Amino acid sequence: MSEEVALGGNLSDALRVGNTVRRRAGPWTPAVHALLRHLEAVGFEGSPRVIGIDEHGREVLAYIGGDGPTGWPDPMPQYVWRDSNLIAAARLLRRYHDSQAGFTPPAPATWRWPSNSGEVICHNDVAPFNAVFRDGELFAMLDFDNAGPGRRLWDVAMGIWRWVPVYNDSDPTVRDRAARVRLLCDAYGLGPERKEVIDALLDRQKAGREFARDQVARGDPGFAKIWSWFPNDSYLLEAIAYIEAHRDELSRDL
Ligand SMILES: Nc1ncnc2c1ncn2[C@@H]1O[C@H](COP(=O)(O)OP(=O)(O)O)[C@@H](O)[C@H]1O
Ligand SMILES: [Mg+2]
Repeated sequence: MSEEVALGGNLSDALRVGNTVRRRAGPWTPAVHALLRHLEAVGFEGSPRVIGIDEHGREVLAYIGGDGPTGWPDPMPQYVWRDSNLIAAARLLRRYHDSQAGFTPPAPATWRWPSNSGEVICHNDVAPFNAVFRDGELFAMLDFDNAGPGRRLWDVAMGIWRWVPVYNDSDPTVRDRAARVRLLCDAYGLGPERKEVIDALLDRQKAGREFARDQVARGDPGFAKIWSWFPNDSYLLEAIAYIEAHRDELSRDL
């Protein structure tokens, strides 16, 4: 077997082995693989191809050539924050949502982050750290582990959080966050429900905290590690407090 190279990321111990990626699998993996196979069958190019499960029970995906910045410990490269990549992220998310239409999940489907809404199968972790870039331009989205039924609006909201970004003030190149919130909604083609998108983000972050807590309680090694770094999911509490404090400002152009 070729050499195993750690790819970074925190939750699934992703490794590159030759032209493949090996990641920890879970009860959600069959549903996610069915989704990824559907995307391949309908010609969606922006997601990983499934190869299967290896002899250690890990999922095997095709390695997508390019750059997959994780944002930690090295900060995100500046190209990530170009408006062109924000627009590309929104368009890719829209194409993903449109491409999953017609997908019939296996019955019964076990999703990692279940919900009662069934508008689409949300990605649920739309972020530059779950993306591959080529020559500084967004090429594909990765890491469908949290995927599950939900509203389009939820994925747009999560995308705003990570791609604008609105989680803190640390990126000096991003000045006008409200304008970027608007740009992302426009590029996705979000309708009048865009007025709700910041509230939806807050709701999803609160739900995400419950989700993470549940994953820790189930003994998930990745979530347990993050919980040990940020007891009580303090980073998420900080993000929620920041967005609550800047709610009107972020919604200014919607
Ligand atoms: N199929 C793939 N092709 C190329 N790089 C990948 C692929 N899958 C994962 N990676 C790289 O590994 C990193 C972590 O993978 P990810 O699937 O996001 O796992 P985690 O659950 O740990 O967040 C990504 O940020 C990316 O750099
Ligand atoms: Mg990831």
